[in-house]
Amino acid sequence: MSKHSAIELLEAAAEARKNAHSKYSKFSVGSALLTEDGSVFLGCNVENASYGLTICAERVALTSAVAAGHKSFQAIAIVADELAAPCGACRQVLAEFCRDDFPVHVASAKDTASFETHFMEQLLPERFHFNP
Ligand code: THU
Repeated sequence: MSKHSAIELLEAAAEARKNAHSKYSKFSVGSALLTEDGSVFLGCNVENASYGLTICAERVALTSAVAAGHKSFQAIAIVADELAAPCGACRQVLAEFCRDDFPVHVASAKDTASFETHFMEQLLPERFHFNP
């Protein structure tokens, strides 16, 4: 995985998790997204008093990267209070930009070294495509 290892990406996600605005759920999530050219974009969950407006850590990282001009990605790391795979909405949003073999590293903040890796194809099989 180029010069960024899964562990380095998970450590970056763990740092980003510290910025989570998770006062309602008290469940903090951080993410680190590695672009094709080796940049890293961070995200954390940003909750809202109107609960449905909450944005997940993964989508914060992805939309920041896209806003900075990146559309090709190598991997994402996600660190939460407990080991957690991305929610369904984030899977579809990631799938917009990420290939079937895109790795999604997940870990608990308690032990980022014990991580699991899932792949996009397994997280969202038969996903929706729209090719106008
Ligand atoms: N959350 C994420 O940030 N990413 C996920 O993939 C799952 C859930 C956040 C949303 C909410 O702030 C909190 O975790 C509890 O659902």
